[in-house]
Amino acid sequence: MLTLAIIKPDAIAAGTAGKVLAHLEQAGFTIRAATFTHLTTTQAEAFYAVHRERPFFRPLVAFMTSGPCLPMALERDDAVMKLREVIGATDPKDAAPGTVRALYAESKERNAIHASDSEENARREVGFFFAEAELV
Ligand code: CMP
Repeated sequence: MLTLAIIKPDAIAAGTAGKVLAHLEQAGFTIRAATFTHLTTTQAEAFYAVHRERPFFRPLVAFMTSGPCLPMALERDDAVMKLREVIGATDPKDAAPGTVRALYAESKERNAIHASDSEENARREVGFFFAEAELV
């Protein structure tokens, strides 16, 4: 099963992308596709369209377009749920010790990594960044 992760601009800027990736590999995820990219405002708005009415939408789009990020399609059994476990709660203050966000996130907004929250969203989000032919 596949899920989508994005190593966010804060982790790229902090130079912790490699550590985050190592953490995910250690947790049994295999990289099936990855693209180092700098999202445009249009792309970030489309990716986070479900949050359009939320008060944090504009700051979220501004943050996600503030620098490059690393979207990846990751595979393992039970990938969606397992990745959510491994990255921890949205706010690093609430994230369990040893999770990616507890280790590397700065705040609820600058929280190092995105992960799909359901199998339906995983299919949409993997498809947002990668064509079927790019999944190796
Ligand atoms: P992410 O998993 O990428 O999905 C939506 C993002 O919105 C979330 O991570 C947070 O970084 C960001 N965000 C900012 N403020 C909030 C908030 N109050 N509640 C939920 N998500 C928030």
